[in-house]
Amino acid sequence: MKKVVIAIDGPAGAGKSTVAKIISQKLNINYIDSGAMYRAITYKVLQKKIDITDENKIIEISRNSDIDFEDNNIYLDGKIVNEEIRDLSVSSLVSNIAQIKEVREVMVSLQRKMGEKYSVIMDGRDIGSYVFPNADYKFFLTASVKERAYRRYIELKSKGYEVTIDEIIKDIENRDKIDSQREFAPLIKADDAIEINTSGKSIDDVVSKILEYIK
Ligand code: C5P
Repeated sequence: MKKVVIAIDGPAGAGKSTVAKIISQKLNINYIDSGAMYRAITYKVLQKKIDITDENKIIEISRNSDIDFEDNNIYLDGKIVNEEIRDLSVSSLVSNIAQIKEVREVMVSLQRKMGEKYSVIMDGRDIGSYVFPNADYKFFLTASVKERAYRRYIELKSKGYEVTIDEIIKDIENRDKIDSQREFAPLIKADDAIEINTSGKSIDDVVSKILEYIK
């Protein structure tokens, strides 16, 4: 198979990461969760107790962090942070940090390097519209806020997080708003992306639909 770049974008909780992971296994290519990169920086900012209005300090942190993926684990400065970055404390701040242009420039440059080196399926908000405008395949997944919140709730609960559905709805609405209104590389469907509404569809349905386009 020639080198491919597959972009999967959409709002929070639309099922992007679950679907992208399965497709990466089926096609035997790398899966990159670009949201995890913004989460890792946010986690570090919280750990270091940095004032979240101190943009210069946050930019400095993003430039001096080592973020890497291996075997579906995310490494921050050499340590696996898969679980820590899913905490609601990170979720509720990540969009504020992800709207800082200089932070995005650091992450986008890393993402592009990954896409140049090997075949990837990458999920996020701006992968098809900004990071890889020439991606081989672009998909944009959507679902109602209620369904997205419910899925996230089940996922977090199964991992042992203490959350309520109301907290998740608030988090999703808040992030969607900031992500789609930010100035630099906002959440947007690329003109040439295939939109799939995942409401009421099973994971298998969505995976099959995407694979139909790719094969
Ligand atoms: O994908 P996930 O929901 O984990 O992403 C967390 C946050 O990271 C998003 O709400 C958004 O603020 C930011 N993000 C982004 N661009 C991406 C991926 C994620 O701004 N490509």
